[in-house]
Amino acid sequence: MSWSRFKQHYYHNTDLGLALDISRMDFSDDFFDSMESRIQKAYADMDALEKGSIANPDEDRMVGHYWLRAPELAPSEDISEEIRSTLESIKSFAAQVHEGSIEGQTGAFQNCLVIGIGGSALGPQFVAEALGDPDGDQLALYFFDNTDPDGIDRTLANLNTELGQTLCVVISKSGGTPETRNGMLEAQRAYHEAELDFSKHAIAITGADSKLDKVASEENWIQRFPMWDWVGGRTSELAAVGLIPAALQGLDIDSLLAGAKAMDACTRDTNTAKNPAALLSLMWYYATNGVGEKDMVILPYKDRLQLFSKYLQQLIMESLGKETDLDGAVVNQGIAVYGNKGSTDQHAYIQQLREGVHNFFVTFIEVLKDRNEPELEVEPGITAGDYLKGFLLGTRKALHDNGRQSITITVNEVTPHTVGMLIALYERAVGLYASLVNINAYHQPGVEAGKKAASEVLDLQHSVVGYLNDHIGEYFTPEAIADALENQSDAEQIFKLLEHLAANPSRGFERTGTGTDSEFGCP
Ligand code: PA5
Repeated sequence: MSWSRFKQHYYHNTDLGLALDISRMDFSDDFFDSMESRIQKAYADMDALEKGSIANPDEDRMVGHYWLRAPELAPSEDISEEIRSTLESIKSFAAQVHEGSIEGQTGAFQNCLVIGIGGSALGPQFVAEALGDPDGDQLALYFFDNTDPDGIDRTLANLNTELGQTLCVVISKSGGTPETRNGMLEAQRAYHEAELDFSKHAIAITGADSKLDKVASEENWIQRFPMWDWVGGRTSELAAVGLIPAALQGLDIDSLLAGAKAMDACTRDTNTAKNPAALLSLMWYYATNGVGEKDMVILPYKDRLQLFSKYLQQLIMESLGKETDLDGAVVNQGIAVYGNKGSTDQHAYIQQLREGVHNFFVTFIEVLKDRNEPELEVEPGITAGDYLKGFLLGTRKALHDNGRQSITITVNEVTPHTVGMLIALYERAVGLYASLVNINAYHQPGVEAGKKAASEVLDLQHSVVGYLNDHIGEYFTPEAIADALENQSDAEQIFKLLEHLAANPSRGFERTGTGTDSEFGCP
């Protein structure tokens, strides 16, 4: 590693307040030349996408998240107008909540319970954590992002006495996602038990005429906001999905959008040396050989950015993890992403990164500004922030000395503008990489398959429960039930379903025996 290689491969954009250092990736001098025609095709693909091509052919949809921060670029005046008017209604709604002209049954809203999952939760969670301030937030944010009853109870325990001042934001683009539907029903029950009217505490963000849209309309919820089919779930942070929770929290959503817009302008550059998203995607290609050979470890040295790695895990893995390419060939593409934060992770898995199996590359996220509060010298002339920097630089060097490669992204501080920039940087890097490896980044057949598989399991549960209810007082092995249902291949599933039902006494099932010799029945 030399100063001259650092200077040669250090991208810095003063206007954005962002630097990207790829000098610790070991590509050879001819790498960029060898990729030039492919990256030029990727720029052309992105250009067509931004102009409204059907960039998601499997779902026959345009891909328009870039228009959210530049409505003037949308392919029709109707779309531009919808984006602008929705932004105005988001701001107006948040202002009315903040000033108390829209309020709960027991007073002005103090809390916001976001109910959503995947792309309808991870962005809002990341932004809330990155930019929130417990003392300064206008509303405190809580999340139901699963169908785990215990998780729901734990969240409700924080809100129980304040439900009448809690606004529920139910988010589902499709409007039919079971986890979100269940979260909504659980929330409804909590309001009902508190003798409150859920509909006076709920808004929906969803596609027009979806199941959720219909429920919200029939039950006369406070308001409904649109999710357009040309915005994907994991790229919806800068649509109503992310902007409403952020605006309710009191964050500067104009700055979020401006940061993303500034990054978009910069990452449209077809001169690769000046395009940080292109540099990033090419480094992913280099590190993984274009086939996901190495994992991407995201290491922000800043507590506020802790959820960035989780957010990126979804953005990247759900977008790039595809079985077939655009020509239908089986390619099993993807890049595994994980991470948390430094220096905390140096006391966890970084031991293995330094010395163990060499199957990853790291992206360090460095934030220059330490804090707003006065500094403390923990040793003469040294602050806690100096230590954090020391750990980042020391780890980066130690990894490189041991042949482990890394990228470093540097920003001045964590502000709405910076967060908007980082979201846009990675959204475009994903789009460019998808072109490089010829896949559709904008559909998610695996997610849909997961939903279908769960519903088949629940159909089986209905049959099993029906059978046992028809034979009260009798006990059966899973195999016997499978035989009776003429479904021998499902004996294991039946065992797992009954094990769960019997472990929850209120469900009314009993288990005798142990392990696979167990018998189940309704006493
Ligand atoms: O990114 C995606 O498309 C998914 O992760 C979705 O956001 C997730 O499945 C939730 O879908 P929906 O918003 O339709 O409830």
